[in-house]
Amino acid sequence: MGILNIENVSKSFGSRRVLDSVSLSLERGETLALIGPSGEGKSTLLRICALLERADSGAVEYDGLYACKAGRYAGKAELAACRARLGMVFQSFELFPHRSVIQNICDAPAVVQHRNANEVRQEGSALLARVGLAGREDAMPYQLSGGEKQRVCIARALCMHPEILLFDEPTSALDPQSTLDVLNIIRSLKSDGISMMIVTHEMDFAKSAADRIAFLYGGRIAEIGTGEYMFGKSTSKELEKFLTGGKA
Ligand SMILES: Nc1ncnc2c1ncn2[C@@H]1O[C@H](COP(=O)(O)OP(=O)(O)O)[C@@H](O)[C@H]1O
Ligand SMILES: [Mg+2]
Repeated sequence: MGILNIENVSKSFGSRRVLDSVSLSLERGETLALIGPSGEGKSTLLRICALLERADSGAVEYDGLYACKAGRYAGKAELAACRARLGMVFQSFELFPHRSVIQNICDAPAVVQHRNANEVRQEGSALLARVGLAGREDAMPYQLSGGEKQRVCIARALCMHPEILLFDEPTSALDPQSTLDVLNIIRSLKSDGISMMIVTHEMDFAKSAADRIAFLYGGRIAEIGTGEYMFGKSTSKELEKFLTGGKA
């Protein structure tokens, strides 16, 4: 069993069945890339993993603890325990506009996790340095470029000490250089042993950094495997079409 297990998860919006009995496991320490045409349900699947959206049916399990079973959420305590294990980074860097960089990073650990404010601040500063933003504690979000904002979002997620990080197209709104900066930071997290699921359109990154790549198509994980398999050996017509630029 992986650290995060999705079992037979289905989700419809109105009459459209976006996810059709999807099963997927994220192994401990694994970097898993989730790819597929837009509108196929990648964000929906990630939001269900992050417990921001409830599946109609199926289960979401974190390392032995069920957050959702048969489409029903577990109790408050179990949900909180599962939520404490995960962090999420979105495409649109959602920083609080009126809080400084360091406040954005430290508010949640101090308030939600009741940690010592001085210790959290020190850790926040160290994390800022780690994402290449040493000394920018007092900057306000509007003073940052998109790439810098996204790096603050990663530092903020890390300051909560998650075991699992979920990224939804973290570089889609960034220029090429900022994209490389952010992807290199994500790559470096692997050595910390963090388990990661990343929705991305950066195929070179997926191929070189992910342990496995899952292709979401037609409401299902239509294909899954190593980069070598997905980019060379798979015989899936839909995957081939997607990778060569068609919509699949
Ligand atoms: N809250 C919602 N209400 C209605 N439809 C939604 C909602 N969220 C997503 N959808 C629809 O579900 C489908 C999958 O969306 P999404 O998960 O965002 O796909 P992707 O991330 O792969 O582009 C799309 O057709 C989208 O319009
Ligand atoms: Mg999406």
